[in-house]
Amino acid sequence: RDLLTGGLVAGWGAAIALGVDSARRPAPTAATPAPEPLNGTVVVPFHGPQQAALTVTPQTHSIHTALDLRPGTDRAALARLMRLLTDDAARLTQGRPALADTEPEMASTPARLTVTFGFGPGFVAAAGADVPAWLAPLPAFSIDRLEERWSGGDLLLEVACDDPTVLAHAHRMLRKDARAFTTVRWVQQGFRTAHGTSAPGTTMRNLFGQVDGTVNPAPGSAEQARAVLRSDGWLEGGTTLVVRRIAMNLDTWDEVDRPGRGASVGRRMSDGAPLTGGVEHDDVDLDALDGTGLPVVNIAAHVRRARATTPDEVFYRRAYNYESETDGAGLIFTTYQADPVRQLVPVQQRLAEADLLNTWTTPIGSAVFAIPPGCAPGGYVGETLLE
Ligand code: HEM
Repeated sequence: RDLLTGGLVAGWGAAIALGVDSARRPAPTAATPAPEPLNGTVVVPFHGPQQAALTVTPQTHSIHTALDLRPGTDRAALARLMRLLTDDAARLTQGRPALADTEPEMASTPARLTVTFGFGPGFVAAAGADVPAWLAPLPAFSIDRLEERWSGGDLLLEVACDDPTVLAHAHRMLRKDARAFTTVRWVQQGFRTAHGTSAPGTTMRNLFGQVDGTVNPAPGSAEQARAVLRSDGWLEGGTTLVVRRIAMNLDTWDEVDRPGRGASVGRRMSDGAPLTGGVEHDDVDLDALDGTGLPVVNIAAHVRRARATTPDEVFYRRAYNYESETDGAGLIFTTYQADPVRQLVPVQQRLAEADLLNTWTTPIGSAVFAIPPGCAPGGYVGETLLE
């Protein structure tokens, strides 16, 4: 019976697929272009001076997972763990199965898969090293409503990919290999405008519908390197990552008209261009006045409050949307910077004091990690701390 049902369903599937195909696909002609190379085969190098989350244009899907070390996990165990996870990442990102991969076929189309590792304060302490002062929870801000279940963590796995199936497989392999050493603290899944659906370089939209990510150093650029890279000790060539989970209230946002929406940021909803004119990548003119002598950009508009006031306040944002029936909607707002206290905290403090967006947004999670440098073939991520 099962076989019969299976056959029928498969048959219907084929019929439907055929129907759709014949309705939509134009008849081949001499002018039909050659097929595009498949996105699945695109590979991001794993080995290199920096870990890949910094250098690659953000992929469509991401999973940030924070793990806590099991009691008694010492420096030698951490080295074993990081060797194992690095080996998994080096294979999977290049389209090869992990060692003892239970579903090896799922590794063959990596679709720009990257794996990036971060160390929380507990990891560095377990390694027997001094925990830097900045590797600690950010100061409490008045707008924070932080929940334990989205905050902190000893070891971060950031896995990102253009294909959610490949992503899930890679995440599962890493989790399996980490299980003997760690327990799961939180998992945050996010998505961006799908790779390949808009012209390369198109800025993503968040779930408020805003163009989000315009003023941001480009991945792999000299400007980004200046803002994010450290030059000290075991973190030389590495950076730091702050993961903030920010809930966005779409129901109350629904009550705001389009001029109000644009005013809250200082940029137009339609295309992200400044309210003071021009196109998306033009600067917002914060000094512009309207006919009545009032500022065109509201004094509490998000970009007025968030804009860097010194070169120190530049950081790299890599945000992902989240949305689910159980957890609501928001941003997994991540920033990379050489020093979160010097670069990010002053900006977050200004936003906490006044930012129109606070009407609809609430930080509900926060975690800080050290992102060690990348490694060469044969090495492993974390060797500068653990060797
Ligand atoms: C700019 C949205 C939280 C820092 C922007 C823009 C939007 C936006 C639409 C304008 C386009 C762009 O340049 O990207 C949001 C939303 C947030 C949020 C919806 C929360 C859910 C934050 C937080 C920070 C931040 C927490 C920092 C602590 C910035 C910076 C800019 C910016 C630095 C560029 C400012 C400039 O120089 O023009 N954000 N943002 N944002 N945001 Fe946010």
